[in-house]
Amino acid sequence: MSAKSYSEVVDEIRSRLDILDVVQSRVVLKKRGANYWGCCPFHNEKTPSFCVSPQKGIFKCFGCGEGGDAITFLMKINNESFTEVIKDLALQFGIELPSVKGDTKQFTEEKQQIKDLLKKAGDYFYSNLFSSPEVKNAMEYLQKRGITKDIIDEYKLGYSLKGYTELQKHFKSEYIPQIMEKAGLTVKSEKGEDIDRFRGRIMIPIRDEAGNIIAFGARAVETAQNPKYLNSPDTVLYNKSRILYGIDKAKSKMIEDDFVVIMEGYFDVISAQAAGLKNAVASCGTALTVDHVKLIAKYSKSRKIYLAFDTDAAGLKATQRSTDVIKEAFTGLGNLKIFDQNYSSLSDDKYTCEIRVVAPFDSKDPDEYIREYGIEEYKKYIKNAPLLLDFELSQILKDYNPDFSPTDKLKLVKKIMPLIEEIPNNLIQNEYIKLISDKIDVDESALIREVNRSKMFKTVDKQSTKKFIKLVSNRCKFFRYQLLARKYKRY
Ligand code: UTP
Ligand code: MN
Repeated sequence: MSAKSYSEVVDEIRSRLDILDVVQSRVVLKKRGANYWGCCPFHNEKTPSFCVSPQKGIFKCFGCGEGGDAITFLMKINNESFTEVIKDLALQFGIELPSVKGDTKQFTEEKQQIKDLLKKAGDYFYSNLFSSPEVKNAMEYLQKRGITKDIIDEYKLGYSLKGYTELQKHFKSEYIPQIMEKAGLTVKSEKGEDIDRFRGRIMIPIRDEAGNIIAFGARAVETAQNPKYLNSPDTVLYNKSRILYGIDKAKSKMIEDDFVVIMEGYFDVISAQAAGLKNAVASCGTALTVDHVKLIAKYSKSRKIYLAFDTDAAGLKATQRSTDVIKEAFTGLGNLKIFDQNYSSLSDDKYTCEIRVVAPFDSKDPDEYIREYGIEEYKKYIKNAPLLLDFELSQILKDYNPDFSPTDKLKLVKKIMPLIEEIPNNLIQNEYIKLISDKIDVDESALIREVNRSKMFKTVDKQSTKKFIKLVSNRCKFFRYQLLARKYKRY
């Protein structure tokens, strides 16, 4: 078979590109009629004027005027030239790209080399698990964690030897030192020598959406080893703020079930997925970001997000931080689902996303819980997981006890108030007020008055800000006229 020409390859890439797929990894979109709408990534806006037409294969922003096809989108968002984008895509689709005149960008060749190296490094770490005498503790550790040979194979778990240059020796001179370093596999020692980054650790390959290894997470085996997890740095292939661990296996199930479970750690995801809960992902040694949420939104159409963080203080903080990030990602696209259908008959697609919190009773992390009680028990927690508001309320109300003084109660009410105010529907709001006043034994009408008072303050605040802005801008106009008048007087 004769090799394809450059323009034939470009045509093939064009035909395989799906504009929705391309745009949705960077912009959260919502379907309206035949088109999809979102907040424009090329200018700052809070209400969506950025539109994608899958039929026409184009995007257009009615705010700033940017527009084009999937390739133009990638050029603009990545700030790359046409040839750079084509090279990236050829690499992604596994299409061989003929070289063109003047096409000397080393960048993509390097990416290909790094990708190649990481794949082989994955094979090497994996083979260590079965060939090195040094591996005894690591194997015992994995067994203790319930990691079977099948799981090792499926996730290609591995082991990095303790020596300082074992990986480099393995590859001999197959890769130049710079490539090893750029792949995140080596670091410079204090003496300036190249040493292996990962030593004496269980290796967990991190994969992109297509399943290529792009980085590693590495767990300590001995208790004295610090840190507990050592991760690859960001590289040309790996951006930890964009990728979620487990996404390669989770993505099709996320489409099918229309929900995702975000967990805290690599082993939580491995345990959950291996036990059959495939739509579990985790961020890799970093807090959840807006880009992570966009990645999820690409696969779960109604954006049902289950947060399965630890229920200790740190985990609760992570839940709070993550919900803020999720809300930020969906700004301007509609309301968060606040209450369940049994409270309301409003249709589901009214909401831009739904956040639920999975918190088993004994504050075990998903990995421990699933190993101890089984996946079916865990799935029950998912099925009954409360919506964010209910979870937050229950967390606050948990502190209540009947001996509370009036001041204690007031403190509690102050914590609850912001949550109640967020409820956009008066009827539902009143239902919640009823529930809470019952629970903490305060007068319902007093609680209602508190909510209304605080609402009133807010509207007064907004009104006075508006008035102030108007006043200032009028003053500015006035001064400008005075200046003009003076200028004209001179003539
Ligand atoms: P945790 O330390 O909360 O615990 O790490 P874990 O996942 O339960 O770990 P195991 O079960 O003891 O193995 C959660 C996640 O935080 C990141 C990793 O992504 C880890 O999976 N992490 C943690 C790091 O990146 N570095 C660390 O030193 C610790
Ligand atoms: Mn754990």
